[in-house]
Amino acid sequence: MQLPAPRGPLTERLFAELARPPHDLGPPPAGPGPYGDRHYDPCFGEEDAQLALFVCYELHYQGFDGVDDRWEWNPSLLALRERLETWFEGWLARRVPRPPAPPSRQVPRALAALVAADDGPSLSAYLRSRADTAQFREFVVHRSIYQLKEADPHTWGIPRLLGRPKAALVEIQSDEYGGGRPERMHAELFRATLRGLGLDDSYGAYLGLVPGVTLAISNVMSLFGLHRRRRGALLGHLAAFEMTSSLPNRRYSQGLRRLGGDAGARHYFDEHVQADAVHEQIAAHDMCGAFAAEHPGLTGDILYGAACALALDRLFAEHLLGRWREGRTSLWETDAEVTVR
Ligand SMILES: [Fe+2]
Ligand SMILES: [Fe+2]
Repeated sequence: MQLPAPRGPLTERLFAELARPPHDLGPPPAGPGPYGDRHYDPCFGEEDAQLALFVCYELHYQGFDGVDDRWEWNPSLLALRERLETWFEGWLARRVPRPPAPPSRQVPRALAALVAADDGPSLSAYLRSRADTAQFREFVVHRSIYQLKEADPHTWGIPRLLGRPKAALVEIQSDEYGGGRPERMHAELFRATLRGLGLDDSYGAYLGLVPGVTLAISNVMSLFGLHRRRRGALLGHLAAFEMTSSLPNRRYSQGLRRLGGDAGARHYFDEHVQADAVHEQIAAHDMCGAFAAEHPGLTGDILYGAACALALDRLFAEHLLGRWREGRTSLWETDAEVTVR
């Protein structure tokens, strides 16, 4: 994967430094915004900060061409990442009210109630019956950022668990990774969807084309996955993902069929209709329910993680539908065109 184009002074400087051998970046900027007090401009800085955080996290996944692997644990880079994480945690806190902490036994029910109360606009209904091919392609371009590493951020949680919740998480992840068959890995199925739409199926190909809201969807998973103290939120996040997947994926498949997509391109969506109906139960009861029983003090974190997943999904839907309503692209560059192979 190549480093994308910078989106402001932060990424401009960071990407230039990453092209060099690992060295000390100096102290990270201070203050509430990514640039410190004086330069804080939430509208201007947000894209810059989400992209910088995404790139810091990506060093723990596949890394970048031309960026030394040793940057991953460079203390000054980690200090910058922590600075960005503090900003991002505030960004989340302003957008996601913390749900009340339920008693342990009621966690699966509280998760279901949170999901049922979600009244965000339905992106899947639009994609099923109204989107044109260009819009469907844009949707898939956004989704490629996470879907080509599907399940990886939640896998960070495995060594942080014991017993029943660990077994439940491994059971879900095993399906996500194809149960030992590489061609059935969900990330691989998604590559077939990209190819079916004439898009580039290589990892991170569209990183430079997606806006901050799409990056935030991945960043929140890495934030929860890479911090043990956030393990409750990580599990709640995964549960909300699985509990809101089956019906939308059925609609995505119907929409793609309407637009002429063949079975191979639709396979990813069809697979999730069945698989996530099962994962939903495992995630809510065996994973979150059992974890809550062992950690009654973390039930609020589980619900908060789920609320973050739902809120970001809503922001994402609002962004795409809003842009399309105005007849504009939902991608990052206003003149962006998706390269069709
Ligand atoms: Fe999946
Ligand atoms: Fe799943």
